[in-house]
Formats: sequence, C-alpha cells, structure tokens
Amino acid sequence: MAKGKLAYSCTACGNESNSWLGRCPICDSWGSLVEIELNGHPGLNEANLISPYKFSEIMDSNKDLDRIFFGMPETERVFGGGMVKGSTTLLVGEPGIGKSTLLLHLADGLIGQNDEKIYYIAGEESPVQIGIRGKRIGIKGKHLEILPETNVDLIIAELNKNQQSMVIIDSIQTLFDSNLDSVAGTIGQIRACASKLISWSKVSTVPLLMSGHLTKEGSVAGPKVLEHSVDVVLQLDGDSSGAFRTLHGLKNRFGSTNEMAVFEMRENGLIEVLDPSSGLIAERPKGVPGSVVVPIIEGTRPLLVEVQSLVSQTGNSFEPRRTATGIELNRLVLISAVLSKRSLVDLKGKDIIVNVVGGIRVSETAADLGIALAIASSALDKEFPSNMAAVGELGLTGEIRRSTYIERRIIELARLGFEKVLVPASFVQGEPLTEVNIKLVGVNNIQDAIKKI
Ligand SMILES: Nc1ncnc2c1ncn2[C@@H]1O[C@H](COP(=O)(O)OP(=O)(O)O)[C@@H](O)[C@H]1O
Ligand SMILES: [Mg+2]
Repeated sequence: MAKGKLAYSCTACGNESNSWLGRCPICDSWGSLVEIELNGHPGLNEANLISPYKFSEIMDSNKDLDRIFFGMPETERVFGGGMVKGSTTLLVGEPGIGKSTLLLHLADGLIGQNDEKIYYIAGEESPVQIGIRGKRIGIKGKHLEILPETNVDLIIAELNKNQQSMVIIDSIQTLFDSNLDSVAGTIGQIRACASKLISWSKVSTVPLLMSGHLTKEGSVAGPKVLEHSVDVVLQLDGDSSGAFRTLHGLKNRFGSTNEMAVFEMRENGLIEVLDPSSGLIAERPKGVPGSVVVPIIEGTRPLLVEVQSLVSQTGNSFEPRRTATGIELNRLVLISAVLSKRSLVDLKGKDIIVNVVGGIRVSETAADLGIALAIASSALDKEFPSNMAAVGELGLTGEIRRSTYIERRIIELARLGFEKVLVPASFVQGEPLTEVNIKLVGVNNIQDAIKKI
C-alpha cells in the first residue's frame, strides 16, 4: 500500500483531526495532538469484491461456533456456552475485586488445547507476585507462560513466535504503544493497544482475554471506550470486603447478557457457587425483624436473595436518610413513599437502610414487595416469618402487581424448603400450580400484605 496521508490524533482522547490544533476540541487538552499516518482505503479492484452469503446457509452458523471450555460451568454459561475461538473479551471490574484471580483460574482450566501455550501478559504485577497468587489458589499452569512486557509491539512480536490457545492481558491500561506520546492508561493508548491486539487476535484466531479497571464512578478514562470493539464484555462485581462476587455480561455477540455466575472469594481463589440460592440465604438470621427472602431472576435462572432493612429514628437535626446497597436509591425512595402513604407503617422522621446480602444487585421490580415488607418488618419491629418469601411489583397506589416468571420463582422457593409465599392476588386466581408444595398467599395491596403476616 502506498504511504498514507498525514493526520493528527489527540494523545489524551484519541480524537482525530485533519490539521494540527493547539487544543483538542473534544477533550480540551493543550498540545496533545501528534502526527499519525493514515493508510487510506484500498481503491476499487474487481479482484477484491466479495460475494454475498445466502441467508439460508448462514442461519445455522451459530451452532458451528468453535468454543473453548474452562471446566467452570457457571463462567462458561456467562460466556454463552464457552468462549468462542478467535473472539475478544474484556473483563472489567473495580481494583481488588478479583479479575487477576479469575484470569488465572481460566488459564489453568482451559481444556483440551494440546500443547499450545497460554500467554499471560503481566503489566500490573511481577511474575513473582503472580506465582505467589497461583500457588495460593492451587494453579498448576502446565501450559501457562507469564510475559512481563507492556510494549504492545514487542508483545505482538513475541506472540507471533508460536501458536497460543489463549492470550490474557492483565491489564489493558498498563500497555503502551511507543508511536504515541501519551502515557499508558490514557484513552488514546488504551484504544491504540487494544486495536492492535484485537486485529492480531482476529487474524491469528487466538482468543484474547483482557482485563480493565473500572473506577467506582464506572467509566472515567476507562476501558469502556473499548466496549464497541470487543465481542464480549463481562463485569466482575460485588463488595470486595464481602465473600461473594458476581460475573455477568454487559455485551455478548455470542450469547445472552442476562446470565450470571456467582463466586465465593476464598483463600484458595474464586470458587463457583453451584447452588447460589442456598449459598446466599445460608447465613440469614431467623426470628429477627427486617429480613425477607426475595426470589429474583438472573438470566434464565431464579436466585433467592435476602433483603435486609433497618429503620431507626433520625437524629434530631438531620433530614431522614435513605441508604441503599444492592438496589437503586430511587427505588427505595419510591417504595418508602408508597409505604408511608398507602399503609399504616409510620416512616415519618425515620432513617431507612436497605441492603441486599452477598453483594448482589437487584434491579427487578418483582423485588418491590419483599423490600417493602423488610422495611415494614423493621419499622414495626415484627419478624417476617422465615419460612415465607414475597414476590410482586408495588404500584404507586399501593397495589401489588404481577411480575414475570412467577412460577419459576415459586418452584425455586419450594426447592429450598419455603412453605409460604406472598404473591399478587391476580396470580392466585389464575392457573393453579399443582405440583409444587408451597402455599400461595394472594395479596391485593401493601396494607393487605402487612396484615397477612
Ligand atoms: N490470602 C487471601 N485469602 C483470601 N482472599 C484473598 C487473599 N489474598 C487476596 N485475596 C482476595 O483477592 C482480591 C484481589 O484479587 P485480584 O485478583 O488481585 O483483584 P484485581 O485483579 O481485580 O485487582 C482481594 O481483594 C481479596 O478479596
Ligand atoms: Mg489485578
């Protein structure tokens, strides 16, 4: 290809411009534009024309996707049934959440790839540190090789020397492209390095797994700029001081983003929790006010979570406070307002704290009734029966509305030995659930639900 034209790119944000500017119009950085070479597009050449595919032929091609497995069934489900060969995945999460740990588990578990090597590009930690972690969590790492290099061109040169079954980058923020003036971790650098590695992966069909740090606020100068260029984005979440972590898809070109895996962080690493429902409610206190079990749906599977609430008198000089962990604060404000207005629970001058145990995030409105009853239970200082659960959406007039997949939630409750469940009254009037051994208690509105317990 002929030598390309010159253009300018901002080293801070990656913005491109035809002419040199003192200040980047997009990110307002001064003196950040540097010369880059554009290769231009290939001209029209009959020999390059590709023919269209017949739809009937490509329809079933998803079935033929070549996938690789890690011996970690929960994680594979989040990938959409194994990781697709030649795909690129970004694993994001806050620092300390367990990304490097998970990457090591995946590297160790990779099944049936002959004698091909797995490369772990270590930009964050030294090989010694990785070795210490690997030993602690019991990694054998037969085919695993650690490469402590951060120059993206040198990394690719090394990768080209032999065939790998997977390449891990920990993390993309530590790599740099020496053609750019900016330091590692800036948006321009993240984009440039990822783009080189992604092209390499597409050509060599070696799957690429990159980690990226998210800040508490989410996106700041982060790896999120890569979301559109990779095939799969997975997020590792949870409360790093607690034991549980969840892995779910934010984007997946080869599967659903609704699936979730639950892990427990132990001395010997991140262990998949195969029966998350029983794990998550194992330690719940019985016979104390403020705790209600709620069946939520994550992807295709039901999950029982414990919602806890604490309602207390506000200190004299302060506005009543609402604090939510695991649910949206707006949802808590709405539910508290409906409770105050539509039931006899008095929340005037009260602080309300709601917490979903185990670091799980609940976004479903089906949890409304359970959350409302946890608050009511604490405010009235009356325990919610420990053999009972609740499901239903709360309307603004206090009515309890039907949620999706109620049957699936009820079956999961019955499986774990619950005896009664509060459900929207309209559900009880519908088709009966005969094979499940659990009593359905229909409720019309929130005051009705409080009376029933
Ligand atoms: N000895 C240990 N026992 C149990 N958990 C540990 C131990 N050492 C580290 N951890 C856990 O590992 C986490 C760090 O995991 P790491 O994979 O380095 O996270 P990340 O790569 O996302 O920054 C710590 O926050 C802690 O929860
Ligand atoms: Mg790490």
